This record gives sequence, structure tokens and C-alpha cells, in this order.
Amino acid sequence: MPDQNISYPHSSASDTITASGYTPGPAASGAGLIQFPTAYQQQFVQYATVDCPNSNIVRKMYVNRPSLEALATSKTVPSGTVIVMETHSAQQGNNKHLTPTGLNNVFIREKRSGWRVNADSGEWRSAWFSPAGRLVSSSQGSCISCHTMVRDRDYLFTLPALLTAARTNQVQHQTTEFGTSVCR
Ligand code: HEC
Repeated sequence: MPDQNISYPHSSASDTITASGYTPGPAASGAGLIQFPTAYQQQFVQYATVDCPNSNIVRKMYVNRPSLEALATSKTVPSGTVIVMETHSAQQGNNKHLTPTGLNNVFIREKRSGWRVNADSGEWRSAWFSPAGRLVSSSQGSCISCHTMVRDRDYLFTLPALLTAARTNQVQHQTTEFGTSVCR
């Protein structure tokens, strides 16, 4: 059940990325590397929080606003969509949800027309960054190998939450569908 109105994430947190604005990634013809969306905390919209109780991890998903707006009336994720997933260490809270204690990693998936890595990647590319925006890995294989599990959701595990958030303007809070910790 949604339990929060959608809002921009707070920009005063200690893990705020210093930034001058969102720069879209390079064109499909280029190297295809995803650029860190430096101002995502100001410019993107949180659409989901996912608790992973078995590993005490909380994941927060953000999307660029134009794509969220497009998904209010369409179920097709548009080219140009950027999804940021923060993973946080967490502790059991007072209520049924985990309480985040520290940002560990930032995982990004970006969709662009023509960005096909292989036959089962969809038009998505992946990148793994540190909280400060340093590239940790641009390797595509491991990300693709797991996200193909949800090819029927355009390779997005949280597509149902994204579509609901787009229609209701409510952040979706849920527990992972998968028992194991998969992304750090
Ligand atoms: C072992 C499986 C697995 C691997 C490998 C994996 N992911 Fe994920 N990813 C998930 C699951 C499951 C979710 C949904 C959140 C949850 O339930 O914890 C997710 C969610 C995401 C999301 C939010 C959008 C969505 O699909 O819901 C992003 C962004 C993301 N992963 C990026 C990456 C990147 C980048 C890599 C490679 C560095 C990667 N993932 C590797 C399983 C995986």
C-alpha cells in the first residue's frame, strides 16, 4: 500500500551529490556508457522503496520526471528513461519497515532507442556507481543476466510500482519479491 506522497528527495542529506544539473548520457552511437545523473536528488522523483529483510537492505528507486509523467497515461517506458536505485544498509525499525542507516551504492539503468547490448538486454544499459558518483562498474553482463528474469516487464523488476506511482503520485513501499540480496 502507498504510504507517502511523492516528493523530490531531500537535498540536504549528507550523501547529497554536488551537482550542476542532469546531463543525459551519450548518444546510442557512442560508447554507450551511462553518465551519473549528478542532480538526481533534486531532479528525479522517488517512486518506490523496497525492503530486503533477509539482508537488511533498503532500496530506493527514482525516475526522471518526464518519464514518470509519460507513464501516467502510457504503459510503455519511453526512450530516455533513467532509473536510479540507491541501496542502503538498514536496521529493523519500530514499525514493519526497515530503517535505512547509510547509502552504499547507486545502480542505474537507462533506456534509449537502439541501446541493445544483446538479444536479451532490452534497450537498457546499466552502470554501478559509488554514492559520490564514481563509476564502480560498467560491466553489462551480470546486470543483464538477472534483469532478463523480468523481460515481460521491460526488464524492470519494479515496473508495476512505477506504473502505479505514475498514476497515483504515491511512492510505493514494498518488500522484495526475491528472498536473497541481489544488489549490494
Ligand atoms: C541477482 C539479480 C540481480 C542482479 C545481478 C542485478 N539486479 Fe538490479 N534488481 C534486481 C531486483 C530483484 C530488483 C528489484 C528490487 C528488489 O526486489 O530488491 C532490481 C532493481 C534494479 C533497479 C531498479 C529498477 C528495477 O528493475 O526495478 C535498478 C536501476 C537496477 N536493479 C540496476 C542494476 C544494475 C546496474 C546491475 C548490475 C550492476 C543490477 N541491477 C544487477 C536484481 C538484480
